[in-house]
Amino acid sequence: MARILIVISGGIAAYKVLDLIRRLRERGHETPVILTEAATRFVTPLAVGALSNAPVLTDLFDLDREREIGHIRLARAADLVLVAPASADILSRMAAGRADDLATAALLATGAPVLAAPAMNPFMWAHPATRRNAAQLAADGVHFVGPEAGEMAERGEAGVGRLASSEALLAAVDTLLAPAAPGPLTGRHVIVTSGPTHEPIDPVRYIANRSSGKQGHAIAAALAAAGARVTLVSGPVTIPPPKGVDLVAVESARDMLAAVTAALPADAAVMAAAVADFRVDAAPQKMKKTGTAPVLTLTENPDILATVAKRAERPALVVGFAAETQNVIAYARDKLARKGCDWIVANDVSEGVFGAGENTVHLVTADSVEDWPRLSKEEVGTRLVARIADALKAR
Ligand code: CTP
Repeated sequence: MARILIVISGGIAAYKVLDLIRRLRERGHETPVILTEAATRFVTPLAVGALSNAPVLTDLFDLDREREIGHIRLARAADLVLVAPASADILSRMAAGRADDLATAALLATGAPVLAAPAMNPFMWAHPATRRNAAQLAADGVHFVGPEAGEMAERGEAGVGRLASSEALLAAVDTLLAPAAPGPLTGRHVIVTSGPTHEPIDPVRYIANRSSGKQGHAIAAALAAAGARVTLVSGPVTIPPPKGVDLVAVESARDMLAAVTAALPADAAVMAAAVADFRVDAAPQKMKKTGTAPVLTLTENPDILATVAKRAERPALVVGFAAETQNVIAYARDKLARKGCDWIVANDVSEGVFGAGENTVHLVTADSVEDWPRLSKEEVGTRLVARIADALKAR
């Protein structure tokens, strides 16, 4: 039995949440509720309180009740926070990290998973501002259910914007409350490198590359979803770390090598980082203009993949990446042998992979080549992880 904090925001669909509260209570869940001010125009705190049989807070609260119950305590004690209906307005305030009423303050304070069930006019849902807010919230880890397509409250209007059905909402709640089921990689430890490295030139300048970290992070996410304990060693990226991975943030190739060796032993290692091949002997102070351009002397960086593949405590499976613009398979084979890894995920970067959402790769082993279709980076991650799980099972 869980404690599900329900945040009701303003919208005509608010009345439907009364039925949901009743059904969640039937299942034995506790359902404290926070109503936004706008929500109180659609459902009364009295009606909600009668059904929830638990504290109901609104912005029209009195200080005594706040002292007694405390919206922060409610937020912290929740196993799940359900925002239903989630209006365009509350999504926008959540995306901005506002805390100017009880509902948004509780949403900022909670450590529990947040499930948003948007409901609004289809034009509002389709508006670029709402798309942007929903994408930001998804990136922040907020889960979504719905909206669904159908007739709207406004006469004659149809489209995507209806609150998900009670059945869909209950199913989404069940999924989020279910303890993580054991996956094919439960009990395994996998190290993933991702992103670029930054090689300092002086305290303010560095050499970098265009890697976004999307592919490496997608692999780390898929590994975690398959139950693995994941150490994600990432260079500087702007994307958030996937849920449930241990992130080690590094800057340079040498830092990355140190972090990877510190994370050993592991059952598998996937080296997706675009490690800088060379570093500069960095100047201790900012280099000043002197009239003559400075000469940067480059030194080769240690090869993290080759180092790990040749160590005594080598993971059972070592996977490298290769970015090629021609002779993709031949170069990948050569890299496999040279670096001593088991597989190479070879991608053709002649057609813009950096920062893109999709990737065309070939899985190259010592004696086989698989050509995968053009896939999203998430899908590449899922497929690769399925192969890793099979390989570890066989070893
Ligand atoms: N790699 C590494 N440490 C380095 C350089 C590369 O671990 N110092 C890893 C990468 O994470 C990747 C693979 O080695 O898994 C890529 O090898 P690399 O030799 O850099 O190949 P490309 O980037 O494809 O380029 P090139 O063959 O032109 O050197």
